[in-house]
Amino acid sequence: MVAAVCEYPLEATSPSHIPYVDANDPAQIEAHYKAKIPFVITGADINPHGIDSAHLRDNYGDLQVSCFSPSCTSQKIELEQMFERIAAGDKYRLRADIPLGRCLEGFFSARFFEKIRSFRRSLMDLVLHTLARKKWAVFLSTPGCKMSNHAHINSTFVIQLEGTKTWHLDFRNLADIEHKDLYPYDFLAEKRPTEEFSITMRPGNVLYLPAYWFHYTDTDTLSLSMHYIFAESMSYYLSPKIWPLFIYELIKRPFGMMRLALARDNEFGFGDKLKWLRSKSPKELAFLSQNDYS
Ligand SMILES: [Fe+2]
Repeated sequence: MVAAVCEYPLEATSPSHIPYVDANDPAQIEAHYKAKIPFVITGADINPHGIDSAHLRDNYGDLQVSCFSPSCTSQKIELEQMFERIAAGDKYRLRADIPLGRCLEGFFSARFFEKIRSFRRSLMDLVLHTLARKKWAVFLSTPGCKMSNHAHINSTFVIQLEGTKTWHLDFRNLADIEHKDLYPYDFLAEKRPTEEFSITMRPGNVLYLPAYWFHYTDTDTLSLSMHYIFAESMSYYLSPKIWPLFIYELIKRPFGMMRLALARDNEFGFGDKLKWLRSKSPKELAFLSQNDYS
């Protein structure tokens, strides 16, 4: 039985560490995936074309992107301009860029992840992958970028393409989430460094991040990553650990989540200082200001 070699049982609520699994060990990958707890795959030939920021600059420089500016506002500029400003020392971030993900998806193998998922498609995959055409997203960040600790309905496989990025992960019950409704989707929470798992992703590493695990990142160098996003099967969302978060979102913000799923631009509601200054309370602004208002 594959499950017998897993480091934690399926019913585990918290691992003791984030395991690293070799890409040439499919039984271990399957066991860890079934455990529904984050893990890192190493040694996969996951970026065979060597996609990096130079490739983006050379091939998609005139593409309009929505990025976070140094003043913590959303800004639409050409990719080339963004790289010029980064080279000049400015802090910029691309978060979940779907159009760029579509540009790059031909360079990556969805099959690698579909195999891990046993080629199962969930009902919500139909919305994400078929209706909204959101299967891949590109993230780029520069040193000093901050983001809030957040959790969401979709799961992700993260392929680190360039630079290093440290991820902080934790799982918490609904009652322990401080900012359940600050965003029209996603849960936000205070960072708890002593209770988190930290892993530094290096080029070629692949992180499995299950839905509703909290996460935020620190960037030490320019970091580029490609994310395969998907939804878990309904049995996951209705499992004892997950259902309170899932049902909360279904009841409190079904339209916010559907809007996020179908929106052309994932950035429509993420951090924007000017927008938040108009709509958030002083306490909420104090929280957001620690995280670049994002
Ligand atoms: Fe996220």
